[in-house]
Amino acid sequence: MKTVKIFADANLTIGPIDRHLFGSFIEHLGRAVYEGIYEPGHPAADKDGFRRDVIDLIRELNVPIVRYPGGNFLSGYDWRDGIGPQENRPVRLDLAWFSTETNRFGTDEFMKWCRAAGVEPMMAVNMGTGNILDAARLVEYCNHPGGTTVSEMRRSNGADKPYGVTYWCIGNEMDGPWQIGHLSADSYGEKALEAAKVMRWSNGEMDGAPGPNGKLKLIVSGSSNHEMPTFPEWDRKVLEHTYKAIDLLSMHRYYMYSASRKRPLEDFLGSADDMGEYIGTLKATIEYVRAKERSRKRVGISFDEWNIWTVNAPRSEPLWKQAPHLLEDVYTFQDALVFAGLMNTLLNNCDAVRMACLAQLVNVIAPVMTQKGGGTFRQTSFYPFCYLSNHARGETVRAISDTDTFENMFGSARCVNEAITHDRAGREVCVSLCNYAQDAREVALELRSFGALTAAEYVEMTCPDLFAVNSFEQPDRVIPHKKDVPAVRGGANVSLTLPPMSWSFLKFVY
Ligand code: AHR
Repeated sequence: MKTVKIFADANLTIGPIDRHLFGSFIEHLGRAVYEGIYEPGHPAADKDGFRRDVIDLIRELNVPIVRYPGGNFLSGYDWRDGIGPQENRPVRLDLAWFSTETNRFGTDEFMKWCRAAGVEPMMAVNMGTGNILDAARLVEYCNHPGGTTVSEMRRSNGADKPYGVTYWCIGNEMDGPWQIGHLSADSYGEKALEAAKVMRWSNGEMDGAPGPNGKLKLIVSGSSNHEMPTFPEWDRKVLEHTYKAIDLLSMHRYYMYSASRKRPLEDFLGSADDMGEYIGTLKATIEYVRAKERSRKRVGISFDEWNIWTVNAPRSEPLWKQAPHLLEDVYTFQDALVFAGLMNTLLNNCDAVRMACLAQLVNVIAPVMTQKGGGTFRQTSFYPFCYLSNHARGETVRAISDTDTFENMFGSARCVNEAITHDRAGREVCVSLCNYAQDAREVALELRSFGALTAAEYVEMTCPDLFAVNSFEQPDRVIPHKKDVPAVRGGANVSLTLPPMSWSFLKFVY
C-alpha cells in the first residue's frame, strides 16, 4: 500500500477561518422558497408558514449566513413586488427560470425566516433591470430606522426596527449573456461603483465613516466561472472601476460529472484542485489591481455560489409553472467525495476567501430535500458540509504532503486531498481527508507544535457503489460511519488507512 506523509505545524498557518465560509443561498428558483423553506399549511410549518423540519436541518448544518433572492432571478426582480399585504402582491413571469412568481414570499418574510433559522441575511440588488436608485431604496428599506416613505413602508409591514443588513451583492453574474440585462465589464463596473456609492449613503455612511448600522460589506460580481471567455479580464476591469468602494469580489463555480468525457471519474475528482487554481488566479488579479490602485485595502473573495450541478439537464416541467421541480439534483456518494474536496479547497484558501455560499440550500442543487406536504432527507453532500461547518474553526494550517497525483482534464490532481484546521480557543485540531485513489492509502500524519493530541472523533464515508444516493425511501443509504479513534504516538503522530474513494474526518483535542 502506498504511504502518504502529511505534515503540519501549528505555527504555519494560512489564515483565520471566517464563519461566513459556511454560508448558503436561497433563490426564488424551483422549490427552494415555495415547498422548500416556506409552505403554509404543511404539518411542520409555523404560524408564518416556515417549515420547522427544514429549519432544524439548516440548524444542524450550522449555516451562518444565507444569500437571497438570487441568482439569475435577481436580475429581473423588483423588490417592491415582494412587500406589503400578500394578497396585493403582483404575480409575475420569472424570465430567468420560466416560472410564475407569486411574490407571496419577499424581503420581510426572508428577514423573519432568517431570525427563525438563526442565520444572517445576505441581500443582493438587481443590476440587470434594476437601477442604482432601486438599490439605494432597498438599503433604505432594510436599514433606515424610519421617518421616510420607504422606511415607514417597512415599519407598516411589521418591522419596526431596521434589519441592519451588512452583506450586499451588487448584481449577479453580470458577465453572463444568460443574465437579464447582461453588461460589459466596463458598463457593469461603472454602474456598480455608482450603486456602491448610493447604497453606502443610504446606510448613513458619509465620507467613509460608518453609518448607524456600521459599514456595508459590498460584493461586486466577478466571473461566473473560469471558462468564461472574459475571465479574468472581467474581474480585473470590474475591480479597477470599483476597488476603492467595495469589500469583496464574488466568484462562482459548479462542477459536474459527465460520462461523455474522456476520463469522467478523474476529470470530476480533479475539481477540488481546479477550484484552487481558479481562486489562485483571482487572488493574483486582486493583488494586481491593489498595486495599481496603490491601495492598502485587501479586497477578499466571496465564493458565493459553489457546488456540484449537472448543468443543462433537460427540463421536464412545463413553462411558467409555479414552484416547478427544477435543478433537483440527487447527489451520489461520488458527488459527496468531490464536495468534501471543494470544502478542503475553500478552507485552504481562507486567507482570501472570506465568505462562501453553498448554492443552494433546499431542493435546488441542495443538501436538503423536501416533499410537498411530506418529509425531508439529507443528501450525501449534507455530511461533509455538516462536519466541517460544525468543527472547522479558528485557522487553517498549511499542510505539506507528498501525495501522488493523477492526470485529468485540468492537468494533475492530488490523490489524497486534505485540510487541517486549528481552533486555539477550543483546543481542537480537525483533519479532513479525501482519498481519490482507486486503492487504499496509508497516511502518516505528523501534527507538530499543537500540544499533546488525543483523537476524539473519527468518521469515514465510503461506499461500494459510487453512484449510490439517499432518497425519501432510503434516507440513510450513504452516511458517514463512526470509527475507533486512532492512537496518537508522542501526541503528534497518527497512522491511518484511507479506503479507496473515501472521505475521512478526524478531530483531535489537547
Ligand atoms: O444557482 C443556480 C444559478 O446558477 C444561479 O441562479 C446563477 O447565479 C447561477 O448561474
